[in-house]
Amino acid sequence: MEKAQEEFMQKVKEKNEGKYKKYYILTMGCQLNENDSEKISGMLSNMGYTETVNMEEADFILFNTCCVRENAEERLFGKIGEIKRLKETKPILLAIGGCMMQEKIMLDKIKKSYPFVDIVFGTHTMQNLPEYVYKALIKQEKVKDVIDIDGEIYEGLPIKRNDKFKASVTIMYGCNNFCSYCIVPYVRGRERSRSPEKILEEVQTLAKEGYKEITLLGQNVNSYKGNDRIKNFADLLNEVCKIEGIERIRFISPHPKDFTDDVIEAIANNEKVCKIIHLPLQSGNTKVLKEMNRKYTKEQYLELVEKMKKRIPNIVFSTDIIVGFPGETDEEFEDTLDVVRKVNYEQIFMFIYSIRSGTVAEKREDQIPEDIKHKRFDRLKELYEARVDENNEKYIGTEQKVLIEGFSKNNEKMYTARTDTNKVVVFKPTENEKIGDIVKVKILSAHKWYLEAEIIDERG
Ligand code: 5AD
Ligand code: SF4
Repeated sequence: MEKAQEEFMQKVKEKNEGKYKKYYILTMGCQLNENDSEKISGMLSNMGYTETVNMEEADFILFNTCCVRENAEERLFGKIGEIKRLKETKPILLAIGGCMMQEKIMLDKIKKSYPFVDIVFGTHTMQNLPEYVYKALIKQEKVKDVIDIDGEIYEGLPIKRNDKFKASVTIMYGCNNFCSYCIVPYVRGRERSRSPEKILEEVQTLAKEGYKEITLLGQNVNSYKGNDRIKNFADLLNEVCKIEGIERIRFISPHPKDFTDDVIEAIANNEKVCKIIHLPLQSGNTKVLKEMNRKYTKEQYLELVEKMKKRIPNIVFSTDIIVGFPGETDEEFEDTLDVVRKVNYEQIFMFIYSIRSGTVAEKREDQIPEDIKHKRFDRLKELYEARVDENNEKYIGTEQKVLIEGFSKNNEKMYTARTDTNKVVVFKPTENEKIGDIVKVKILSAHKWYLEAEIIDERG
């Protein structure tokens, strides 16, 4: 982190001394945003703020926004309205950051219509937050300009993580793919990879702190570019696997078009890499995929899945699917359902297509009516949920290694844990294991969103 920012952090800390100031962060969007929020938390903690989950008692409120899909705008404006009322009762600093603030239209709207917003920053100016907070506290300056979509990578920001045993590590920023529906390349800029040494250093530190599970994050992780020694994503994966103490490794999201054989080998050869792979499909129809600019056909996607299933016997998949892309016919949508049946996904994140301003698909005149989009969504959901039941039943009687995450929210006498394929498992604690352990359980019964189990070996 830059020295100047460390000094601002210190100055804010001195101002806050003895005042018991609290901060509240609302994170919208993906795991990359969650990871950014952890860094923001780290900076705010170093500035003398403590976290609260109750927005009403906060002195510093921050919204970390996302603009990937619709509705986020209305939600944000609603939230800003709430803060306006709160601000009438006590002094509050309101900051808005994240992807949405990288959109010029949104930034201008905030400046014009919501003058009481104290700080605005983007995904590339987050590291300057201490300076913005200081200036806002001494009322020197308000909204900042944030558009700098290809900003350099800042290392060494403090971080306050949400979990004690699972952590995310961002390995690359931005995206070069320009899928025709997607706003990400416009707001997060071109692909920039972190240095492999910095990534490995971060994972080593996490291992020393007792973390067991790591998720490598990026908009397109398998186009990661390293250096002479650790050249690409497969090399990086192999290196991360060598770090002692880390027992599980996940990554999101890879792009099917870049899923090279060396990555498949790295997954197959390393027990630590979880055998659930997120492989965004988006559509199962070759014509729609072409118009989405996804650069693979239905057949190529299915071949990739088959190749992986052959090489890695117990592999399962999760995916992202968009229904109602402009021009999508009922027949073309059937192809998506066909792929869903064939791959038999463990988890599907389903989205209704929404127009994003500035994208290629925005300009299309053959947008699908809302009612048709919703009908397709419901059909996909129905198919998926029927499969969830069937897939869950397959677990009954099997032995699984699970990471204990804590006590179940619905039944505090039970542990909640996750399999390597991300299934929630609940079981009765014994004296021999604790939260954060990986243990072996036997699955006894299956419910819609969780499996019930009993412990068979506390050492996993
Ligand atoms: N409409 C609907 N879903 C979208 N996604 C990205 N852009 C859009 C959009 N305009 C989905 C994709 C992506 C996930 C993160 O969000 O499925 O993989
Ligand atoms: Fe968006 Fe496509 Fe890049 Fe993913 S790969 S962030 S969907 S443009």
